[in-house]
Amino acid sequence: MKHIVVLTGAGISAESGIQTFRDADGLWENHNVQDVASPEGFQRNPEMVLRFYNERRQQVMGVKPNVAHFALAELEKAYKVTIITQNIDDLHERGGSSNIVHLHGELLKSRSTRDENRAFDCTTDIKIGDKAPDGGQLRPFIVWFGEAVPKIMDAAEAVQSADIVLVVGSSMQVYPAAGLVGYARGSIPVIYIDPKPAVNYEMKSNKNLRIIAEKATVGVRQIVDELMNI
Ligand code: APR
Repeated sequence: MKHIVVLTGAGISAESGIQTFRDADGLWENHNVQDVASPEGFQRNPEMVLRFYNERRQQVMGVKPNVAHFALAELEKAYKVTIITQNIDDLHERGGSSNIVHLHGELLKSRSTRDENRAFDCTTDIKIGDKAPDGGQLRPFIVWFGEAVPKIMDAAEAVQSADIVLVVGSSMQVYPAAGLVGYARGSIPVIYIDPKPAVNYEMKSNKNLRIIAEKATVGVRQIVDELMNI
């Protein structure tokens, strides 16, 4: 069975109603990303950061997967599929995909400030004073700027074993995630679906790059139809 690796970013969730990061000129829901997605920002104002993610969590629980999420799940009927997402929402899970690597963590999970590896299900607000079993303050199970990306090597190995790589809805600017395309074996097809494609250095070096300058619900549907009818 051929192996398709799909690298997704905020753009695949845009049509579900979740704002991307850089389409709103660098603000994330009217916040400077560094203030709400960095350990320094959490240190400076933990209440504001917890409130920000409580709002994001409620928002995600109120939206639905879109055609692109469901189409990617369809691929599993004919391919081995690994979804490697930079997104912290659970729309790939709810869209039916079964093998998902969250590089930047998950909004519906929390962790202790003392342990980056142990995650707890979280569908309610986190408040100052909410503690993990190890006594540490609970915080979102999210990789903030400047923090390690624990799953990056698993992701790189997946890309190395891919027969086809799809990139959907990412500006391909934030490393190490943006560099994953560089692990694709030389001649395999890399297909980039984005209405405003931003081909980065690693993509440029791929000899078999195809760009579909469409929004995800159109481009992913199109490419899945092609791949399911080979
Ligand atoms: N369909 C497909 N792609 C879209 C759509 C759409 N409907 N709307 C916007 N896009 C594309 C934009 O053209 C852009 O290339 O989605 C991409 C969004 O880019 P970013 O906002 O930079 O999101 P992403 O690439 O996921 O950011 C990576 O940066 O802020 C950090 O940790 C955060 O995971 C995030 C990382």
